[in-house]
Amino acid sequence: KKVVLAYSGGLDTSIILKWLQDEYKAEVITFTADLGQGEEVEPARVKAIACGIKPENVFILDIKEEFVKDYVFPMFRANAIYEGEYLLGTSIARPLIAKKLIDIANETGADAVSHGATGKGNDQVRFEIGALALRPDIKVIAPWREWELNSRESLLEYARKHGIEIAQKHLDKDGNPAISPYSMDANLLHISYEGLHLENPSNEPEESMWLWTTPPELAPDEAEYLTLTYKNGDPIALNGEQMSPATLLEKLNQYGNKHGIGRVDIVENRYVGMKARGCYETPGGTIMLKAHRAIESICLDREAAHLKDELMPKYAKLIYQGYWFSPEREMLQAAIDATQKNVEGDVRVKLYKGNVMVVGRESVNSLYDDAYSTFEKDEVYNQKDAEGFIRLNALRFIIAGKNPNRK
Ligand code: ARG
Ligand code: SIN
Repeated sequence: KKVVLAYSGGLDTSIILKWLQDEYKAEVITFTADLGQGEEVEPARVKAIACGIKPENVFILDIKEEFVKDYVFPMFRANAIYEGEYLLGTSIARPLIAKKLIDIANETGADAVSHGATGKGNDQVRFEIGALALRPDIKVIAPWREWELNSRESLLEYARKHGIEIAQKHLDKDGNPAISPYSMDANLLHISYEGLHLENPSNEPEESMWLWTTPPELAPDEAEYLTLTYKNGDPIALNGEQMSPATLLEKLNQYGNKHGIGRVDIVENRYVGMKARGCYETPGGTIMLKAHRAIESICLDREAAHLKDELMPKYAKLIYQGYWFSPEREMLQAAIDATQKNVEGDVRVKLYKGNVMVVGRESVNSLYDDAYSTFEKDEVYNQKDAEGFIRLNALRFIIAGKNPNRK
């Protein structure tokens, strides 16, 4: 059996690697992605080889540009938000990881893929629906749903017994080494925290939990302005400088971090049924969302914009629930993308202590026409036209009001 494992190099997936070798007698191929999570990926190579993985079976790929260009940007064209708050930072990365697992399986002749998501979460669904959509005959091994190592302690015990290194890079509040304090996931778009003391939704997160943003209270006392340039609905330049999608998002993350932007603390509905408390930092994404809506505000026709807004929650739910590679997501994407050809121009935003404020927008495609919109005297709009417009729109109320029997 040949299995491609989504391998971070961390404790959990190192245990999975060993377990696949022992329980399935599998030839394991590891895949480690640099998605901009801010951790070195090369150590995964050394660790994998130390576990007996053949060097040619270790795949380490920098997929930051593909991630932002083909996943994050298309999603931002839709202004996608799940349940009013969540910018889908983890949800949007999973289908790309699934795609790479399948590409590598095809390349190496593997018949199975494996991942470290638990049987209680969304990620298992996203990995597996993604993988099956791309390769219907793929087998999936989800160790968390099979093994008996269901507590942190039994995992550590297994690691000790099999000589797996237990890296203690996190310290608890008293400075003692701690195993990963929260359940976390990070990529260029966001970092997430779940579990531990967050499991009581009435507990405020500790300030020390937040790793990617300055506390808004400590952010600079002076506001900072940015200009984002859009073309076909995607940001292509920052402060007049053109840059690649991943570079642009990385830069926005730095500005967002500095000004304490993009913290979210929510209780969300997981696909498998339970509610879960999650905290997220999406500094650059929060700026992009505001800026994109601002450029759309002058470039989109009213009805196209409103229809887009109606479709958005549906589109966001598809991504949250793992249906990126589905006919219905592609269908909505085509509709969204069709609206973006005129979405171009500049947006100015002001960043200040956790806030992103839009202060200006301009476009060669603007539908804003001050000849019509002005409060001053105009030459083009006949105010008398509004009288009939209003009376006809109110006609059904006028007719209903004439019938004395109606309650
Ligand atoms: N609750 C978020 C989501 O479903 C974040 C999941 C984070 N995943 C993780 N393996 N820590 O998208
Ligand atoms: C997990 O259960 O593996 C992480 C959380 C989630 O997938 O929702």
